[in-house]
Amino acid sequence: LASLKASLRNGLRQFPDFPSKGVLFEDIMPLFSSHALHSSLIRAMELQVADVFNTAVGEDSGIDVVVGLESRGFLFGPTLALRLGAGFVPVRKPGKLPGDVAEETFKKEYGEDVFQMQSDAIKKGQKVVIVDDIIATGGSAAAAGSLVRKLGGDLIGYIFIMELDFLKGREKLDAPVHTLLSGQEEKLQETL
Ligand code: PRP
Ligand code: MG
Repeated sequence: LASLKASLRNGLRQFPDFPSKGVLFEDIMPLFSSHALHSSLIRAMELQVADVFNTAVGEDSGIDVVVGLESRGFLFGPTLALRLGAGFVPVRKPGKLPGDVAEETFKKEYGEDVFQMQSDAIKKGQKVVIVDDIIATGGSAAAAGSLVRKLGGDLIGYIFIMELDFLKGREKLDAPVHTLLSGQEEKLQETL
């Protein structure tokens, strides 16, 4: 797992002043454009889930549902779900999902945003892991967690590729939070 993580860390790129001045954008797309990195990412996530949630590796994980956040959580959530022997359920921006939906409003950098899930997407007591690429302020992840619980899901925890730890987003979440690469590791790497 450690060597997988090292290769993933080297696959990330940073873009200063994107999407606006003063923001250092963490670009995860190279992890998908390379077959080798993509494969390492999914393997690392599969091993990480087993490690931190104390489950069997692979399809016997006992996780029932992987919930992915629109849109970057859709890039790997379904693949991880297949590996874990779980279903995949999306959290979407408003107006995209038909039928009965549950919704949660949350704060973004500017103004508010809304997330929705289909009300029947999770059955009572199902074990759920929420995945996304990055946790920044934690607002989106917290909203997704509330939705999963509203639907009766048993939220086992969160897995992110990386964390902007200086924003302390994990303090907004009331389930275990794990990241493949922490911002801290990034900084350590840079000072080496
Ligand atoms: C980014 C990122 C996370 C979220 C983290 O998504 O992919 O989902 O922000 O921010 P937070 O912790 O402060 O809530 P974004 O809303 O930019 O949309 P995208 O995934 O559709 O690109
Ligand atoms: Mg996102």
